[in-house]
Amino acid sequence: MSGREGLVFRQDYFDDAAGWAALKQLLIDIFNVDISPLDRLGGHDPTSFPSAYFDAAGRCVANLSAFSMPLVINGHPVKAAGWQSGAVRPEYRGLGLYRELIAATLAWCDNQGYEAIVLYTDKPGLYERYGFRIVPQYSFPGSPPPSLPDRQPVARDLHLENDLGLVQTVLSGRTPVSRRLAVVDQSRLFPLNCLLQESVRLSALRHDSVIVAWRRPEPGLFELLDVVGPEIPTLAEILAEIGQQPERVESCIPSDLLDWDSPAVANTGSLVFMMRAPDELLPADPSCLSPLADF
Ligand SMILES: CC(C)(COP(=O)(O)OP(=O)(O)OC[C@H]1O[C@@H](n2cnc3c(N)ncnc32)[C@H](O)[C@@H]1OP(=O)(O)O)[C@@H](O)C(=O)NCCC(=O)NCCS
Repeated sequence: MSGREGLVFRQDYFDDAAGWAALKQLLIDIFNVDISPLDRLGGHDPTSFPSAYFDAAGRCVANLSAFSMPLVINGHPVKAAGWQSGAVRPEYRGLGLYRELIAATLAWCDNQGYEAIVLYTDKPGLYERYGFRIVPQYSFPGSPPPSLPDRQPVARDLHLENDLGLVQTVLSGRTPVSRRLAVVDQSRLFPLNCLLQESVRLSALRHDSVIVAWRRPEPGLFELLDVVGPEIPTLAEILAEIGQQPERVESCIPSDLLDWDSPAVANTGSLVFMMRAPDELLPADPSCLSPLADF
């Protein structure tokens, strides 16, 4: 195990190219996730506030980042921060570095007046002592709504690399996809997640004003990942305009604005969603964030 001599504490360092490169390498080494596509998708989120330790060679050995993630919860806007990229290199673990990064990041969030902090983790015990609570996430499976025979399939396929400008424009004017729990603005992560996640298809509806993210993970199943635009079409309209007639639908966004009834089924993956917020800000009804809002 290495000691902590020679380590330098740095904050808000993403504008330094070497620091940004060192953070990307940390994420590859610890999580096997390469966020380099962000560099051609508009760069890092300017609201990010990373706290980190660097060694004498300029390696990032520990990091935790907060960023602005405005949410709608129970129909109300919530000034929320997301936490991401929390990691310590194995040879520096057990020295209290992460405890210090949590303390520094919490202090910054409190100072900025964030009402809520959200994160995903497979180690909830690490955060419970700081007041984070698990908020169960659900998916919404069911039979498709009755079809709309009068509607023509008018949607066109988008290709992220070619249509990035359009995607970013539509993202900038989006309305929350649910009143229960949804991002208000998260335009940096949506394009990155489209690339990092498998088989995501983007369809433009309504003269390119609405973008639907979806996929067909298996025959007969339509998976709705996200809807981006100034209005949310109903599920029946989405299916008709994309020209899909599935046997089953699984929505990865809450169904409250889709004019479609479906049961809520709790997700059982190893990652849990946690919130640090007063009771009244926790989602009151079964909800989830779109996979394209992952962070
Ligand atoms: C989890 C991780 C960040 C901890 O880093 P670290 O620098 O060793 O942590 P610290 O030495 O600062 O310990 C902080 C506290 O967390 C506790 N802790 C460490 N690992 C833990 C785990 N897996 N589950 C619960 N608590 C844990 C420590 O016991 C310590 O408690 P204390 O404050 O009461 O002493 C590090 O092991 C890591 O990078 N793991 C792989 C990536 C990861 O899981 N990141 C976090 C996911 S969101």
